[in-house]
Amino acid sequence: MNYQINTFEEYLEIYKYSIENPEGFWAEIASNFFWHKKWDKVLEWNFTEPEIKWFLNAKLNITENCLDRHLADGGEKTAIIWEPNNPDENVRKITYKQLYTDVCLFANVLKSNGAKKGDRICIYMPMIPELVIAMLACARIGAIHSVVFGGFSAKSIADRVEDAGCRMLITADGVYRGAKLLNLKGIVDEALINDNLIKKVIVFKNRGINIKMQTERDIWWHDEIEIATTDCKAEIMDSEDMLYILYTSGSTGKPKGVVHTCGGYMVYTAYTFSNVFQYKSNEIFFCTADIGWVTGHSYIVYGPLLSGATCLMFEGIPTYPDSGRLWEIVEKHKVNILYTAPTAIRSLMQAGTEFVRGKDLSSLSKLGSVGEPINEEAWHWYNENIGNSKCPIADTWWQTETGGILISPIAGISPTKPSYAMLPLPGIQPAIVNAQGEELFENNISGDLCIKFPWPGILRTTYNNHERCRTNYFETYKNMYYTGDGCLRDKDGFYRITGRADDVLKVSGHRIGTAEVENAIDLHHKVIESAVVGFPHHIKGQGIYAFVICNNENTDSDKLRTEIIDIVTKEIGSFAKPEKIQFVNGLPKTRSGKIMRRILRKIAEGETENLGDTTTLLDPTIVEEIKTGSLSLA
Ligand code: WTA
Repeated sequence: MNYQINTFEEYLEIYKYSIENPEGFWAEIASNFFWHKKWDKVLEWNFTEPEIKWFLNAKLNITENCLDRHLADGGEKTAIIWEPNNPDENVRKITYKQLYTDVCLFANVLKSNGAKKGDRICIYMPMIPELVIAMLACARIGAIHSVVFGGFSAKSIADRVEDAGCRMLITADGVYRGAKLLNLKGIVDEALINDNLIKKVIVFKNRGINIKMQTERDIWWHDEIEIATTDCKAEIMDSEDMLYILYTSGSTGKPKGVVHTCGGYMVYTAYTFSNVFQYKSNEIFFCTADIGWVTGHSYIVYGPLLSGATCLMFEGIPTYPDSGRLWEIVEKHKVNILYTAPTAIRSLMQAGTEFVRGKDLSSLSKLGSVGEPINEEAWHWYNENIGNSKCPIADTWWQTETGGILISPIAGISPTKPSYAMLPLPGIQPAIVNAQGEELFENNISGDLCIKFPWPGILRTTYNNHERCRTNYFETYKNMYYTGDGCLRDKDGFYRITGRADDVLKVSGHRIGTAEVENAIDLHHKVIESAVVGFPHHIKGQGIYAFVICNNENTDSDKLRTEIIDIVTKEIGSFAKPEKIQFVNGLPKTRSGKIMRRILRKIAEGETENLGDTTTLLDPTIVEEIKTGSLSLA
């Protein structure tokens, strides 16, 4: 039994079975993969330490399941269709056989440069096939990849390299994103100025731009490939060995390294990919995410390759050369399944339907949405203008920590409703809890979203800091994984994710912690204190609003604003720039000194009429002042 879902009745049956007998259910699914040795036990877990292990003592290599396994029957099938940033440049099509060869070659390059099982390798690359090759080559030799999104600054790379203790870094000289040329190697050089961990930097020549190569440390990808052999046996990994680290933002402190392991992640991404999107073997799947975020890891790289799918990978941005680019790509490659983010939909919706008109989108049969709540207007626009009202929309809810999709319609099989993620996938046991931590069993309620039982793709730890994993996800509600999201369950039992209940923002789908932005702003020598909150933004979903207290010198506020934005860009990346900066004389604090963010959020949202009880504040007059000041920014 492979538990592929073909009808809604089957979904209901399979779901029921998966909850009654999770171990039997996941073991059956896992038996469809290639293991060097099967597990002794399916699951061992507790959510208190937490300790979660799937497929105990099983041995495998995920790349054999992504590549080798498909060679006999599907070696000539296209694994990756690569669409360049510039539509006039050449498309690349890479077969499974070619990808296998490329991965083995590069895996040997890694080995001959000293990489071995368990090493952490940082990857800072553009959206080119070599990024996928680099990730799989790491996995082939048992090294742990830590991909850093190409929009992150030098400082962010440095922090991640240090936290993970990376010895090697893989990058490219540069890349065009839209009309802009980015010198990636230059950013890496800056990141490594004070570093003494990284021994080798492997550089892929992508644009042939002028860069500096540091003797001994920096080597060219193409030189190394020349002298490598194509034969690379896969390292045999334990099911619970680490596959990768991916840094993500939380409510507090620096981003944490979410850890996924080999066996469970493999089973979960493959099962969710093939079921949610109802992938059929001749279809072309296009996920517009960047591989630097989890969506790209799970649904450009691992899920599709594990399923032997053809996946389209796009180097550029949806608005270059114009806002019709995604539709042009769909037409050009006859894409069947499009998986994108609400922020992209909203920005293309704003650009107008003239960019869609005349494009043949008839190849599309299924649509997906991910990364943030999709508002009804965007949902309808997507449905009507892109899906021609005939493509089911899978609004997929999940997180970096969950490894894969947890709540979503099964495309074309289960019901959909605008702005609802609908129903849990098999094996997923959601719970909505109230502030007292009690689970609410009835329908028509809302609260915090938790998951009561492990699934194979759940994070195992946060790198080098297990305690942080415990306090972040497993301490708030006893014996539950706490998602950080608010959620409602309607009268029919359908789930709607209402957004983060903590201090995490989603700006154009990018996950950003308010604390990170505050820490960056506070580095400015004139800043005494800052508080950052989100406000509703018609395209980005959320925008960043910073309330900043400066010391009292005569400050030119425009200049100061620019300097603050520069610091945030330098510390995090330009995607984390505050949209609004309001200088204030104080922040609303409780007598114990805690910032009342609830009040700031309301002000940022423009809801200044109903701020709730402010009498417990240390200085209630400050609220009036902030309110007045906010009006001039609106
Ligand atoms: C939000 C992205 C509503 C949510 C895969 C979650 C969503 C956070 C949806 C995780 C959705 C993701 N509807 N909200 N369909 N998908 N989110 O780690 O707040 O970048 O907690 O993973 O995105 O963001 P992350």
